[in-house]
Amino acid sequence: MNDTFLKVLRGEQTSYTPIWIMRQAGRYLPEYRQVREGVDFLTLCKTPELAAKVTFQPVDILGVDAAILFSDILIPVEAMGMKLAFSEKHGPSLAEPIRSRSLVERLSVPDPEDDLPFVLETVKILKAGLKVPLIGFAGAPFTLATYMIEGGGSRNFLNTKKMMYQNHGLFGGLMTKITDTVTAYLRAQIRAGADAVQLFDTWAGVLSPDDYRAYALPYVKQIIKELKGEGAPIIYFVNGCAGLLKEIKASGAVAIGVDWRIDIGEAAKKLGKRFVVQGNLDPCALMMSPADFRPKVREILEKAKPAKGHIFNLGHGILPEIPVDNAKALVDIVHELSGKGGRVS
Ligand code: CP3
Repeated sequence: MNDTFLKVLRGEQTSYTPIWIMRQAGRYLPEYRQVREGVDFLTLCKTPELAAKVTFQPVDILGVDAAILFSDILIPVEAMGMKLAFSEKHGPSLAEPIRSRSLVERLSVPDPEDDLPFVLETVKILKAGLKVPLIGFAGAPFTLATYMIEGGGSRNFLNTKKMMYQNHGLFGGLMTKITDTVTAYLRAQIRAGADAVQLFDTWAGVLSPDDYRAYALPYVKQIIKELKGEGAPIIYFVNGCAGLLKEIKASGAVAIGVDWRIDIGEAAKKLGKRFVVQGNLDPCALMMSPADFRPKVREILEKAKPAKGHIFNLGHGILPEIPVDNAKALVDIVHELSGKGGRVS
C-alpha cells in the first residue's frame, strides 16, 4: 500500500510529495471516453462496477498517489428529491429550483444505505482492489445550495443571494437539510472504507468574507466537527479561496485545497503551521509542454515547503482538452523533483 498521501495528512514526513488530480477520472482519458460511449454519465455513477473501473483508470495510467471515488457532487441532491440531468453542452440541470418554503420542506435527508447504496458498493469494490488510499467526497453546502436554487450553473448567483439576503430563515432551513445530508453521506463513505474525504466548495469564492462567515462556513464547520470521530482526515477545497483564508482556518479541516489564483507560499503563510496545503497548478498550464510547466511545478513545491505538509494537485479540475501524456509527465515531475530535493525523511 502506497500511503504517502495519508502520511502527509497525518503530518508525517514522507520521502516525496504525493499528487492526485481533481477530476482525474474524466474525458481527457481515452479509456474513460470509451466507457462513456456505452453509458450515460448518471448510469455510470450508479453502476458500481463501472464507477470503480473509471476510478482505477488514472491510478493505473498516471501513477497518482490517491484515488478519488467516481461520482458527482449532485448525486446526493438527486437523492434529496430533485430531478437531475446532465447534458453534454450545458452541464448539470435540476428541475424545479428550490425557491420557496414548500420546496425546501419537500426535500428529504437521504439515508445513504437505502438511497445511495451504489456509492457505498463502489467504495467497497475499490477498497478491495486499490493500492493507494481512496478519497471520498461531497459538495460543501453552499456550493450544493447554488445548484439547487439556480437549477444548474450560474453566472452571478442572483437567486441564491436573493434567498440568502431576503429570507435568512428559508436559506438556513435549506442549508441545514443539505448539511445533514452531506454529514450522513460522508460518514457512510468513511464507514464503507474511504480513507480521507474532500469537501468541494467550488462556488464559495463568490461570497464576501463577511457573507462567507455568515452563510457558508458554519455549515462546513458543523460537518467537519461531526465527522471528527470517524478518523478520516478531511480536505476542504475552496475555489477562489484567496480572500477567505482567514475564515477557512476556522473550518476544522486538516488540509486546505487552494486554487491557482493565490501564490501557494502566500496561502501556506496565511494558513500557518497547522495546515497541510493541497494544490495549486493552473489546470491550463498542462497545455504547455512538460519542459515548460516543469519550472512552475518546482516553484509550487518550493513555496509549499513552510506548510505542515503538501499534497500536489491542480488548482481546479483537469480539463478534457489536456493531453494525457502531459498529465503523466506532471505526476513524474512532482515525484522526481520532490524526491530528490524535497522534504526527505
Ligand atoms: O475527481 C474525480 O475524478 C471524481 C469524479 C468527480 C466528478 N465530478 C465527475 C464528473 C468529482 C469529484 C466531481 C465534482 C463536481 N461535480 C464538482 C466539484 C468540483 C469542481 O469541479 O468544481 C462540481 C461543481 C460538479 C458538478 C458538475 N458535474 C458539472 C458542472 C459538470 C459538467 C461540466 C464538466 O466539468 O464536465 C459535471 C459532470 C461531470 N462530473 C463529468 C465528470 C467526469 C463529465 C461528465 C461526462 O462524462 O460527460
